[in-house]
Amino acid sequence: MVVHLIRSLVEARQRDIASGPVVPHVTPHEIRTYLESRYDFTRPAALDDVVADVEGMMRSWHVQVTHPRYFGLFNPSVTAASVIAEMIVATHNPQLATWRTSPAANEIERHTLAWLAHRFGLPPGSSATFTTGGAEANLSAVIVALTRAFPEYGRDGLRSLPAPPAIYLTGEAHDSFNKIAHVTGIGRRALRTVATDGALRMDVGDLARQVAADRRDGLAPLMVVATAGTTAAGAIDPLPEVARVCASEGVWLHVDAAWGGAAILSPRLRGHLAGIEAADSITCDAHKWFSVSMGSGMFFCRHADAVRAAFRAQTSYMPPQTAGPVDDPYTTSIQWSRRFIGLKLFMALAEHGEAGYVEMIEHQARMGDVLRDALARAGWRIVNDTPLPLVCFTRDGLVPARFLESLHARQIAWMSEVRLAGCGPAVRACVTSFRTSRADIEWVVGEMSRIAVGNCEVTS
Ligand SMILES: Cc1ncc(COP(=O)(O)O)c(C=O)c1O
Repeated sequence: MVVHLIRSLVEARQRDIASGPVVPHVTPHEIRTYLESRYDFTRPAALDDVVADVEGMMRSWHVQVTHPRYFGLFNPSVTAASVIAEMIVATHNPQLATWRTSPAANEIERHTLAWLAHRFGLPPGSSATFTTGGAEANLSAVIVALTRAFPEYGRDGLRSLPAPPAIYLTGEAHDSFNKIAHVTGIGRRALRTVATDGALRMDVGDLARQVAADRRDGLAPLMVVATAGTTAAGAIDPLPEVARVCASEGVWLHVDAAWGGAAILSPRLRGHLAGIEAADSITCDAHKWFSVSMGSGMFFCRHADAVRAAFRAQTSYMPPQTAGPVDDPYTTSIQWSRRFIGLKLFMALAEHGEAGYVEMIEHQARMGDVLRDALARAGWRIVNDTPLPLVCFTRDGLVPARFLESLHARQIAWMSEVRLAGCGPAVRACVTSFRTSRADIEWVVGEMSRIAVGNCEVTS
């Protein structure tokens, strides 16, 4: 009954969003004035009114990321199961810091993560936790790798290390690694940029050369970050070759599959992730291509002991460790108090089943192909190369910033600008919604081709 009610509510809201604008046009001043005029919190308000008002604000002042014509930065449309899961979690408000405070919730998360770890080819007993997102998962990877490579790091800090650590990644890797290098204290200069090939994939020869040169120069090569689905262009680094370099050099392999990781479920796409099973650690976000609401990241690591060593904690005010094969999550992850993040993925997987998920993922991959073909037929030039549904494109004389302004003002679609190595600015469109249809794409490409005419500079 409740499920039926919420599902119809979600579907009605979705129809409403799909028939409305994608992009808001509002200034900070407008919103601040509105809020100040209505909410000084001196008098209580009826919840019905507050809900209607907040819904109105979200309707008008929000990039509608669940709109079928949102081609954005990996923010998905969400399944009804994840909306219901959010409600259950908020109602019960379980505390997942320790096993014994939330046995059911902890076991549901463990069960879901073990299923996915197995799909990635990680061995039984690997560590896995839900995180707030990909950035936290990437941070976890660096902390655990440092702890494993330098047992003295945890107690005596970076100053005790025999050599400065270095992390290898391409210029296309996610920029969270810059912040991570900063907050872990290894410093942003510890990041070594590896060259890419014409498809923006890591050049493994350059990787091997840089690792060898750094070792000669007294640095301690710590980790290679291979990205499976780069943010800007969807490129997948050559995982088997990178894994071979890591194995021969004794360097940690972290695969950032924040978006692309979902492809592991698809028989059509999973071959592109071959080699991920060799990873020491993996980042994969449920709140990207797994289509659950934010924030729901995941961190997988084959070295469970190193994870325990990195995040160990013991205080008298926490309930004592439960006997048996369980870890208390506050001792195996960055977070302390912990929300029941994993229920959304568990419920969505349970409702749709693996086959339903495969269909959802492959539908988006097919829509990526439809977009590529429609653009090419309409005279656009595709400038990236990926099997995943992310298309970067331009045409002669196009000024992407001006073009996007026009696209957004006309409510045709939401897309963004990228600058890829080796080519100028381009337009980036990622199929992030399982609701995006062939008709949506064909209409959008038709409209884009019409407005491009006024947004191209004549080139001689
Ligand atoms: C490849 C990659 N890694 C990490 C992240 C960071 O993930 P989050 O925003 O969930 O923290 C992103 C975000 O888009 C990403 O594309």
